[in-house]
Amino acid sequence: MSNEKLIEKMNDALALELRAINMYAHYSATVMGINRMQLAPYFSKEVSESISHADIVRRGIVKLGGIPVTERNNKDIVHTTDYQVMLNEAYDTEKFAANAYTAVMDLLKDVGDRDLFDAVEQICMMELRALEELRLLTA
Ligand SMILES: [Fe+2]
Ligand SMILES: [Fe+2]
Repeated sequence: MSNEKLIEKMNDALALELRAINMYAHYSATVMGINRMQLAPYFSKEVSESISHADIVRRGIVKLGGIPVTERNNKDIVHTTDYQVMLNEAYDTEKFAANAYTAVMDLLKDVGDRDLFDAVEQICMMELRALEELRLLTA
């Protein structure tokens, strides 16, 4: 099997991470009021996590012989002063990420690269955990 489809799916995930970096950095800077105390560090942590996920995926794409994308996923980043809207946007972002990594895992399991499979599986679990956390935060 050629790695073309897998590289495409990994690039989808990378573009989503690049978008997540921007979105979370924006919300960390712009969240106001008493919620800023907890949400600014929370969003900043998501920035760092997304940077590290992007790095792992980028290197994986290169390992597979592909060219990593440099543009973020083009879905709008909603500017808002309402932290509930921020959390809803975060929830959607994590859902897209979880779906993207599930698609990558489906293709990766046939490639036989155990190291890359484990790395992506860990990222996928982190997205699912973030999704569950945001489900509770927005409940
Ligand atoms: Fe991520
Ligand atoms: Fe995430």
